[in-house]
Amino acid sequence: MVTAVAQRLLSQRKQVDDTLAHFSLNRDQLRVVRDKMRVELERGLRKDSHSSASVKMLPAFVFQTPDGTERGKYLALDLGGTNFRVLVVKIRSGIRKSVRMYNKIYAIPHEIMQGTGEELFDHIVHCISDFLDYMGMKNTRLPLGFTFSFPCRQTGIDKVNLVSWTKGFKATDCEDHDVVDMLRDAIKRRNEFDLDIVAVVNDTVGTMMTCAYEDSKCEIGLIAGTGSNVCYMEDMRNIETVEGDEGQMCVNTEWGGFGENGCIEDIRTKFDREVDEGSLNSGKQRFEKMTSGMYLGEIVRQILIDLTKRGLLFRGRITEPLKTRGIFETKFLSQIESDRLALLQVRCILQQLGLDSTCDDSIIVKEVCGAVSHRAAQLCGAGMAAIVEKIRENRGLEHLEITVGVDGTLYKLHPHFSRVLKDTVRDLAPKCTVSFVLSEDGSGKGAALITAVARRYCGGAQQQYLYSMRFSDETLLEIMSRFRRELEKGLSQDTNPTATVKMLPTFVRSIPDGTEKGDFIALDLGGSNFRILRVKVSHEKKQTVQMETEIYDTPEDIIHGSGTRLFDHVAECLGDFMEKHKIKDKKLPVGFTFSFPCAQTKLDEGILLTWTKRFKASGVEGMDVVKLLNKAIKKRGDYEADIMAVVNDTVGTMMTCGFDDHRCEVGIIIGTGTNACYMEEMRHIELVEGDEGRMCINTEWGAFGDDGMLEDIRTDFDRDIDRGSLNPGKQLFEKMVSGMYMGELVRLILVKMAREGLLFEGRITPELLTKGKFETKHISAIEKSKEGLSKAKEILARLGVEPSADDCIAVQHVCAIVSFRSASLVAATLAAILTRLKDNKHVPRLKTTVGIDGSLYKMHPQYARRLHKTVRRLVPECDVRFLLSESGSGKGAAMVTAWAYRFPGLGSGRHKF
Ligand code: G6P
Ligand code: G6P
Ligand code: BGC
Ligand code: BGC
Repeated sequence: MVTAVAQRLLSQRKQVDDTLAHFSLNRDQLRVVRDKMRVELERGLRKDSHSSASVKMLPAFVFQTPDGTERGKYLALDLGGTNFRVLVVKIRSGIRKSVRMYNKIYAIPHEIMQGTGEELFDHIVHCISDFLDYMGMKNTRLPLGFTFSFPCRQTGIDKVNLVSWTKGFKATDCEDHDVVDMLRDAIKRRNEFDLDIVAVVNDTVGTMMTCAYEDSKCEIGLIAGTGSNVCYMEDMRNIETVEGDEGQMCVNTEWGGFGENGCIEDIRTKFDREVDEGSLNSGKQRFEKMTSGMYLGEIVRQILIDLTKRGLLFRGRITEPLKTRGIFETKFLSQIESDRLALLQVRCILQQLGLDSTCDDSIIVKEVCGAVSHRAAQLCGAGMAAIVEKIRENRGLEHLEITVGVDGTLYKLHPHFSRVLKDTVRDLAPKCTVSFVLSEDGSGKGAALITAVARRYCGGAQQQYLYSMRFSDETLLEIMSRFRRELEKGLSQDTNPTATVKMLPTFVRSIPDGTEKGDFIALDLGGSNFRILRVKVSHEKKQTVQMETEIYDTPEDIIHGSGTRLFDHVAECLGDFMEKHKIKDKKLPVGFTFSFPCAQTKLDEGILLTWTKRFKASGVEGMDVVKLLNKAIKKRGDYEADIMAVVNDTVGTMMTCGFDDHRCEVGIIIGTGTNACYMEEMRHIELVEGDEGRMCINTEWGAFGDDGMLEDIRTDFDRDIDRGSLNPGKQLFEKMVSGMYMGELVRLILVKMAREGLLFEGRITPELLTKGKFETKHISAIEKSKEGLSKAKEILARLGVEPSADDCIAVQHVCAIVSFRSASLVAATLAAILTRLKDNKHVPRLKTTVGIDGSLYKMHPQYARRLHKTVRRLVPECDVRFLLSESGSGKGAAMVTAWAYRFPGLGSGRHKF
């Protein structure tokens, strides 16, 4: 017979079990959590979904984990966990590699955490001041790394805007403000000492770095403490919110926000909602409130209140302590759950908290704590499984081995949390072997390591000049619209005379139509090679092209001498070519690719407006180059030639590509120089009579900015390059973009960095100071993903510097910034041409092909991909095919010549003035 007492006990038991059942998650439920977390990770990374994602995936601007070469003495602050610490960190590299730290813990009173921003930062600076006094370091201006454990939107390692406070902080006037500015202002207000604030990092990032210093496999940082969060090394190509595709960057996931969009409501209990409602940031950080130390005790308290109200606990009496928010700290939870503790001791702890309990009560309290912490560990495990699986997929591995650096009081103090977490990860990510390493020294050490790296690569002034070379999409869109206006200015009769982008009519009216045939000679002058070609286009069943090419020298004394000598040289090479190919007796039609800005009123005339690039022969500007060449040929008298067309290399390239793809209507060159041409509607070309059909316009975009239009984005390096060039004040866009100048740009930056002691231990060699010693082909070699660093070492050694491993990485970084800037700028101007074509055609989407040539585009390992990607981002409404011209502009020049040969007289058109 069951007694009434036993029945009551049974029913009590059942009610408690029913309540706690809501906290037990089975495997399927955990898998769902893992998968939802994965979805949110992806959403946070993608540009289109980032703003509405609950897991913010904030770029941390840390590009690599430490490699042991870090060194120096740093100050570190560590704010946001249980303790606020100020530290000095001394890092040694080499064989005596070590890190020594001295720290002091300071309290942050509640009223300051939730007072004004000024009070909070004044308090922080007060603590720093005390620490510097204590260490006797008031007069040294140390670099500072700041661990700031709250969600921040960063645009650089020291450009850090607080998104929102979390955990126990709620100081006013801080959200949306720059953390570095607030700290600097407080330092100024105190006016006692100065600091060089180099880096701000999240505690997860600091923890990852601390652990990675010992274990290079550590690429994830986890905090299970007052708050909950994870960071990891993500591939740049997946982080759409930051420009650039190369390498990796650490992403601070801020997974504490998971569920803010309601996606885990099915597993949240009424107790989680109560905790949320009573918190400082209700509705926010829902995952954090189910998993971190600051809230687990609160969930326990809510359950205890509920059970007490239902008469199942504490004899039904809700006492004052039970009503007190925050009494159940993580440490009590950890103690209560300890297996070694007898029930009597549990009762003692409850007693300390002012809770008078029976033996049964203490059993129930222990069960409640267990259920809540078990769920927390499982949820963290499910989240971690999503992260490691993502990394494994990123790397295309069957199996991933990885280390997680972990910190936080919950992980460290709780008797079961870490075991349950690890079991869950093992279960939910079977293709990953995940090791967990406890961070012994907190995130301060990691912050100092990051500061060491940041100082080396991008610290201080150098950061500004390198950063000013990176453009956001907003800037690129602005440049695109400026260039769009330049196009219009150049086309209109009224504004053309003062336009810098000349928009030169070429009298080429269509791309090849497949009927061209004949035997032609093409001259190709103005790129890195001077070529002469014989192009035979036959037209039996199918159109075929046969080409024979010779490359001729153009020595510097000739291209910088008199025009007569230059054209005599060209005529001599042509004579030699005809001799070699035994065609001296034939008068073959000649097409002349002349890659300089020329005004044309017909196909076979080209008045050189100005030399560009390496050329500067006297007496040619203002003259018709066809006439000059004819004169030189006549003077020789040993052969005849019929020059039928002068074409720019962009036009030659468009025609070469148009031969294979009839959609091709743009030609661009990214080589020694840069330029573009495209097919414009005749009705918009006010300089040439006639409104029917289209004509190719040679934009001469290299001159974009010659009227000051790009001054806001030009750097001092660009100005130096211009000053030292053959044509100062001209082709300013070209000088920021093209191969002739890029190597020199990198050289100037390296010299500056070396002068500031940021490279080569401050050593500057005569080679490094010599103009032209660093070439664009070196950039291409250094940016190769596999052997890039060893190439850097080789190239720098040839410049007489003995680069360290860090130097090589830094130089690679500089090369990437300069070449990336070039690709971004070309993307912006090309995008402007594409939108113009689209508008001309009145179509909602433009499908088109761009023909491209040039050594920079062809040789640089990443250039093409960066350009294509940026164009697609800037003009998503255009479907662009990029077609590399395989056979140079000579073939295209022959196509134009074929046309001119077939329709003599049609290749002209009257200028209106
Ligand atoms: C780290 C840090 C703290 C950080 C903490 C998390 O090591 O140095 O700044 O926030 O661990 O732990 P806690 O449990 O204190 O929140
Ligand atoms: C083309 C040509 C050259 C042209 C060049 C641009 O294919 O045939 O005449 O100027 O590419 O490239 P470069 O890198 O040589 O300046
Ligand atoms: C913050 C994170 C931090 C975590 C652990 C969270 O509340 O949003 O930035 O990493 O706590 O301290
Ligand atoms: C010239 C253009 C040419 C480009 C690429 C520029 O310097 O002005 O006419 O198309 O270089 O070779």
